[in-house]
Amino acid sequence: MARRNKIAVVGAGNIGGNIGLLCAERRLGDVVLYDIPQVEGPVKGKALDINQLNAVRGLDSRLVGTSNFADCAGADVVIVTAGRPRKPGMSRDDLIATNVEIIKNVAENVKQHTPDAFVIVISNPLDAMVYALHKIAGLKDNMVAGMAGVLDSARFRFFVSEALDVSIDDVNAMVLGGHGDDMVPLTRLCNVGGVPLESLLPADKLAAIVERTRKGGGELVSLYGTGSAYFAPAESAVAMAESFLLDRKRVMPVAARLHGEYGIDGFFFGVPARLGKGGVEKVYEIALEADEKAMLDKSFEAVKSTVAACNI
Ligand code: APR
Repeated sequence: MARRNKIAVVGAGNIGGNIGLLCAERRLGDVVLYDIPQVEGPVKGKALDINQLNAVRGLDSRLVGTSNFADCAGADVVIVTAGRPRKPGMSRDDLIATNVEIIKNVAENVKQHTPDAFVIVISNPLDAMVYALHKIAGLKDNMVAGMAGVLDSARFRFFVSEALDVSIDDVNAMVLGGHGDDMVPLTRLCNVGGVPLESLLPADKLAAIVERTRKGGGELVSLYGTGSAYFAPAESAVAMAESFLLDRKRVMPVAARLHGEYGIDGFFFGVPARLGKGGVEKVYEIALEADEKAMLDKSFEAVKSTVAACNI
């Protein structure tokens, strides 16, 4: 008998809880919210609360809250949000020491209980955490991806739609590279309903949007005061999970393991990729201009040093 998809969310905090909600809303399948024993009560509460929301909405997804990773077994997708978020004044790299230990624990659990799932990592610093999880859990290259580019591109698209007073639907944009202040919004390739973006905005305005995008996560950290963004990150990861589960074959910027593309080998880096039943099915290589390549190289140097700092 056909069964529903199963989505395991590892780390059921702010982002994790919203992922549960969004998966149910999109009718993607049943959801397991897993977290550490210290928060077993609140996590069970979150699952129960969303089940009751589903009753109001007529949604059939069942949510389970647990602190037993074995309950994630058989998951088609595992979304990892485990780890500390930033506080005001911190960079993503300030989280390395704490979050690498958490990711080691998650990787051992994934290896034991969900080795065949498609794994989407959200924890920061993203490019290093996805690298660590892939390596420690020994997962196939195509079955792991990091969520950053979808979010960074969404931020960029939103700022453009606001500046031009146009529908967000018609703003096509792509942010590549690492999930840090050196990320690379490829403005030359952005368009609004097919009209090149660079012809619509003066250079100084566009530069300001690029800068705001690069610092987009930090802006949210300052405003929240107690943690980082969680609605848009949750939706971005669920969009990736949906493309995998429904074999939509969407082309999205994700942190994928590269094998020589863009001159990078053996690291996870934000590039356009096709997500479908085969996980990361294809990486697209774009012919870059010299200044764009230089920005991407700079971003990669930052990723490399963050990975090195993890000592894994
Ligand atoms: N296994 C599973 N979950 C864990 C573990 C672990 N070993 N260690 C911590 N967690 C859980 C925490 O108990 C907490 O519930 O991870 C959850 C993180 O939730 P929040 O603190 O609310 O953080 P959130 O805003 O959701 O961000 C999570 O995503 O974007 C990144 O920078 C962000 O690294 C952070 C992560």
